[in-house]
Amino acid sequence: MALPEFNREIANDVWDFKNYQVDFETGFMLPNPLESLPPYFDSWNKLATNLPDLVKEKKFRDEVYKLPLLNHNLLEGCKQLRLAHLQLSFIASAFVWQDGEKEATKVLPKCVAVPYFNVSKILGIPPILSHASLVLTNWGLINPNGNLKCLYRMPGEAEAEWFVMVTAHVEFTFAKCLKPIIMMLSEIKTIRESKSCVLGTGFVTEAAALQVAQHLDALRECISELQGALSRMHEKLTAKTFFNVLRPFLGGWGGEGNPLPEGLIYEGISENPMKMTGGSAAQSSSMQILDAFLGVQHTEEKREFLVHMRDFMPTEHRRLIEDLEKWPHKLRDVVLSSKSPTLRQSYNNCVQAVVNLRTYHMQIVTKYIVTASKEANEGNYESLDNKGTGGTSLIPFLKVIRSDTQQKLVSEKEPFQKSCSKQNFSAPAPFYRSTVLLFMAVVSIFAAAIFVRSVQQ
Ligand code: HEM
Repeated sequence: MALPEFNREIANDVWDFKNYQVDFETGFMLPNPLESLPPYFDSWNKLATNLPDLVKEKKFRDEVYKLPLLNHNLLEGCKQLRLAHLQLSFIASAFVWQDGEKEATKVLPKCVAVPYFNVSKILGIPPILSHASLVLTNWGLINPNGNLKCLYRMPGEAEAEWFVMVTAHVEFTFAKCLKPIIMMLSEIKTIRESKSCVLGTGFVTEAAALQVAQHLDALRECISELQGALSRMHEKLTAKTFFNVLRPFLGGWGGEGNPLPEGLIYEGISENPMKMTGGSAAQSSSMQILDAFLGVQHTEEKREFLVHMRDFMPTEHRRLIEDLEKWPHKLRDVVLSSKSPTLRQSYNNCVQAVVNLRTYHMQIVTKYIVTASKEANEGNYESLDNKGTGGTSLIPFLKVIRSDTQQKLVSEKEPFQKSCSKQNFSAPAPFYRSTVLLFMAVVSIFAAAIFVRSVQQ
């Protein structure tokens, strides 16, 4: 059977991704982000552009103190706001960490803190450097058909740029997963609305099962490509630079073991320090979409962490994950109510591809953090040695997330489950209706016999 064409109309009919600011070409990456803000904001444009050199020369903080307090209300539209968040996140991080953890500043000056806090509030994301700005907003093309480039750079030169671009490449690769997912959402809805159920049984027909299986095979291929994209990290990023330069820059403020345990004071906003979790690709929506679609649920405190990561996603992306979790027509229910070994195998292949991706990601974490903390540690940021930038204790945390995924593999013994909605049973097939009537007649005769006997006694 040939794979059905991707049909944008059907897709939008069931699930309009545009409402969630998701694009079939760029996925969660902001399409055509702005490269700079209007001239009124030139002091931010310049400082963010010159950041790596100024940090290297230890002159960055002095330049921040010279910034005027600009009016964030003059920013227009989502793209300007997203770019402002990116620039101000870079400026705040460089300001705090320029001289290492022992010299971390406790107060972010008003000229950065006030617009930063307000822009973040409008966007619905916290005032801290996160995946939404560092990666999703921070890209351009070198030429129309050319390679990706970073708009703004962290300290760490070409290696830092590589880290951001490989992460962006993973996001772009994920965009390919969207088409099979949306086609399946449409098919699953049709199946659940009974048109493709074996009438009266609740089981999914073979034809419907095979259709879904084909889309699952396409999805599995895309998931495997994600691993290939992630593997490019090794090409130009050394563990030494990631561990000693990038990770501290991505670190947040506040919490036990942090150089700023109380957090950071955003001058002009509050006199009390605020705690902010640092930037991590765990804030990417891609993996959470795969989990939600495949029906992978995580155990309590892991889920708590992953749900907390959603606070850093653009609000529409967060809503997409939540809506997908609430969507009543579940892929897994369809798989479990099918007797098709092909569908079960295709579903398992997808789950296994996510398990493999998570295993591969753990190898990356081992290289860039666990081993690097012993072999490439320059000792400038002791507080971060055993933690992820999102604040987890790394490998044990990631292992549980992987085993939650593995548990979703469907075994041959897994019981079948009825998937068709009640509607199916309210309009039963003639043979089903007569079976019900016969059953009711037998029950009535028995009841009458028992009643007569009890009256006679
Ligand atoms: C040098 C490269 C990377 C390192 C060292 C790394 C490290 C980590 C760490 C330490 C965590 C645990 C959460 C935390 O504390 O932050 C994590 C989680 C996570 N990372 Fe990465 N990461 C890297 C690249 C990526 C990339 C490119 C992606 C994909 C966009 C990614 C996606 C995730 C996801 C989705 C999680 C949440 C756990 C899960 O769902 O499996 N990571 N990462």
